[in-house]
Amino acid sequence: MWILGINIGHNGSTALYNDSELVFYIEEERLTRQKYDGNPFAGIDLAYKYTDHIDYLAICSTSNNFPMVPWNTEDVYSSVIRKKQPGVRFETVPAGDIHHLTHALTAFYNSGFDDAAALIIDGAGSGSLAHDDLKTSTWEVESIWSLEYPNVYKCHYKQYGTNMSDSFNGEEDGVPIEISDAHGITKSYEAVTSFLGFGPIEAGKTMGLAPYGKPDNNIKLSEGRFTNRAFIKPRFPAGNLIRADLDPKLKELDGIADWHANPELVGEYRKDLAYAVQKSAEDRVFRLIRKTIELTGKKQIVMAGGFCLNCVANYELLKEFPDVEFYHEPISHDGGNVMGICQYIYRTVTENQIRTPLTSLYLGPDTDNRYENIDFDGFDVEETDAKTVAKLIADGNIVCLYQGRSEAGPRALGNRSILFDPTVKNGKDIVNEVKRREWFRPFAGTVLSEKANEWFDFRSRKDSPFMMYAVDVLEDKRDIIPAITHVDGTCRIQTVTNEQNHHYYSLISEFNEIKGVPILFNTSFNLAGEPLVETVKEALKTLKESDLQYLWLPELGKLVTKNSFEKTN
Ligand SMILES: [Fe+2]
Repeated sequence: MWILGINIGHNGSTALYNDSELVFYIEEERLTRQKYDGNPFAGIDLAYKYTDHIDYLAICSTSNNFPMVPWNTEDVYSSVIRKKQPGVRFETVPAGDIHHLTHALTAFYNSGFDDAAALIIDGAGSGSLAHDDLKTSTWEVESIWSLEYPNVYKCHYKQYGTNMSDSFNGEEDGVPIEISDAHGITKSYEAVTSFLGFGPIEAGKTMGLAPYGKPDNNIKLSEGRFTNRAFIKPRFPAGNLIRADLDPKLKELDGIADWHANPELVGEYRKDLAYAVQKSAEDRVFRLIRKTIELTGKKQIVMAGGFCLNCVANYELLKEFPDVEFYHEPISHDGGNVMGICQYIYRTVTENQIRTPLTSLYLGPDTDNRYENIDFDGFDVEETDAKTVAKLIADGNIVCLYQGRSEAGPRALGNRSILFDPTVKNGKDIVNEVKRREWFRPFAGTVLSEKANEWFDFRSRKDSPFMMYAVDVLEDKRDIIPAITHVDGTCRIQTVTNEQNHHYYSLISEFNEIKGVPILFNTSFNLAGEPLVETVKEALKTLKESDLQYLWLPELGKLVTKNSFEKTN
């Protein structure tokens, strides 16, 4: 049974399943090089390289409006597939109106837990006009579920956002619901992020700035679990806004981006605002976790939705709830929903109870001709090994690593990574400049799994293979790895074993032999504003267009160096 899942919207993506086996998952932007590409036609084409017919097509979306073919009742994606497999019947499953449920299904099936509660937090999920009491549009923002095999789910609680100032507490199909314009952890985060001059969904940048700030009692973003309307203007389903129009001081700072490149222009207020929204979000998530335990009675909790990428809050949850077993879904943005719906379809049709925990994020297309017809013109290519590359890094060079299938989700985990020595004092500034990122943004690291506890405090977790936590660096180790220790003493860290990634593990082991540090500085292989590189050709292009000089291709045993002609031109 071939099941194709696509997500349309700002995280366009495709997943192909053969029964319960995930064949590939990819975000459309990786294939088309257009950031946030929302129309996964290239993903559909790719699926047909693996099979010539699809049995089920599941269409996920942030909203429930699908582009329809004019004069027809067919959506454009079904139309494309019908033409690719004429005469072969397939079922379309429109999953646009169950957005939070698809987040919950993805996290549940990927967790491998036998049964679990799910807490979903995102910006604005499925829209609904069903709430007659209010006669207004509403969007899912936060919800609590319980899930069991093969395909059993129950919603226990849901919050909706609206752009009307009326509010509603009641029930819908027996589920307690609340509707208010003052809901929305993610929406508050978006408001601050926009105010700081970033795109509303670039929350990670605000999260990176937050530890530079301090508490300021005048910045009151929330009142308990509600958004403070005096400070934030609700604007569902678009991003909320800081009410800068009410305060001349705020108006002057609103959206100004000069400080992104110059730390001297940042000012205390912006840092404190970022700090405030992070703390306010954490407080509100703590409340929701308590509510999840209260309503479901479960201590195995999976989380998904865009906010689940907040690795700082994820770690705070480990501290606050030591007896809860968490699974934070690594592909928690909307793109990941295709996995949940495909698995749900398989289990609904077959009643199969097979567990398929996500054990690897190397889920990009597995093409065996990855290195065919590559033009290395402009580069020197020589034989190399992990030891030589480790020495190159230990000598202060930035080295790009390209191998195997690309990583799903936003984190590079050693298949499409840019690597550096974490012991270099100003390493963060050096790499931020090369990657053309903002000065305040921290960098992540990768540690040999068996050494992880000697350097980091993982709280209740034994590892972090998907880099979902910004953990405390042990105090006596912070000065040793300044390039990846953020101002608050944390580091977003990946643990790696030889089985998970042989070449990357070998490289870090060799680096440890030289420096006595079993850790590498690891950032995604792309330049600011660009998708992660997918192909070798794109990897070489990135070197050509930047100050990056070295590329290690361990599957070929080659080191590629930009030659002097390219360097001076
Ligand atoms: Fe979502």
